[in-house]
Amino acid sequence: MELEVHSKLEEELIYPAIRAEIDDDDLMDEALEEHHVVHGLLGELKKMKPSDERYDAKFTVLAENVRHHIKEEETEMFSKTEDCEIDWEALSSQVVKRKEQLTAKKTSKKK
Ligand SMILES: [Fe+2]
Repeated sequence: MELEVHSKLEEELIYPAIRAEIDDDDLMDEALEEHHVVHGLLGELKKMKPSDERYDAKFTVLAENVRHHIKEEETEMFSKTEDCEIDWEALSSQVVKRKEQLTAKKTSKKK
């Protein structure tokens, strides 16, 4: 899944559902900030050529950030939801629906 779609789904649907249940706004804010940084780097990379001096370094930093972010989601955020009352089934059907909308929008834009 494209990174932009992935973060949109998290930011619009998954994170708010988790934020409402776990008592850790700092963790949720940090995750949003990490998305922000990753998308900033990605935007810069898209404008660069692979032969540019800082391209490789930027790519490495991007990969490190993504890895860190995923690890934090998996180990901290999602583990905090284990005792929560999140309706994962309802949430996942919302996510699937929204994902279809977002991908449809993308493909129609490309035409
Ligand atoms: Fe994320």
